[in-house]
Amino acid sequence: MTQRTVAVVSAGLSQPSSTRLLADQLAAATRDELVRRGNTVQLRVVDLREYAHDVVNNMLTGFPPTALREAVDAVTGSDGLIAVTPIFNASYNGLFKSFFDVLEAESLVGRPVLIGATGGTARHSLALEHAIRPMFSYLRAVVVPTSVFAAPEDWSGGAADGALRGRIGRAAGELADQVELRPPASGPADPFALTTDFLQMLGRGDDAPVT
Ligand SMILES: Cc1cc2nc3c(=O)[nH]c(=O)nc-3n(C[C@H](O)[C@H](O)[C@H](O)COP(=O)(O)O)c2cc1C
Repeated sequence: MTQRTVAVVSAGLSQPSSTRLLADQLAAATRDELVRRGNTVQLRVVDLREYAHDVVNNMLTGFPPTALREAVDAVTGSDGLIAVTPIFNASYNGLFKSFFDVLEAESLVGRPVLIGATGGTARHSLALEHAIRPMFSYLRAVVVPTSVFAAPEDWSGGAADGALRGRIGRAAGELADQVELRPPASGPADPFALTTDFLQMLGRGDDAPVT
């Protein structure tokens, strides 16, 4: 059995939040798919609403408060990421963008990502393709082909209807495929790790005479 960690980021602002509902359904489908393939799965849910003030503080000071640091580590140390935003003015909302703005450069390179969005109208479903997918492509994450948009008519009594359930299942399978292609994540990068040889730090390469 391989241990896998899937981070789930939801940028919904309402309570209850349809964005969080979609994120939870994507997370459950991904977990079930990975478990079916013999993995054990830990879900790390990051409801950005709880970190809104910390995200702004991080933008102003350059440093994440402790709670936000833990949320960032959950994302950057995961095997796969589910990222879901409400559509605001035909794009991701500001909180979603700001959270990914405060991540260390290159911290999502090569990371499998499933993107989702909710909106007031299905006419804006392509915001996933013209705004959210390009952002993760810029970050050099690996975004799965199926993105999942949920409009109000996709929910019936809070549960996903048949077509939405089908899209969720397909996207979850694609994310599981990408996660399984990779060795298990070793957690977030250590910001204090030595990346330079100690002798080089002293200004002495291999050819320096030993005295
Ligand atoms: C400021 C604002 C702008 C919005 N702009 C759009 C939009 O351009 N297109 C759209 O489909 N829905 C838009 N909506 C509706 C939200 O995307 C929709 O209600 C969403 O599902 C809310 O998610 P939540 O329940 O998780 O908060 C907007 C809502 C707000 C508050």
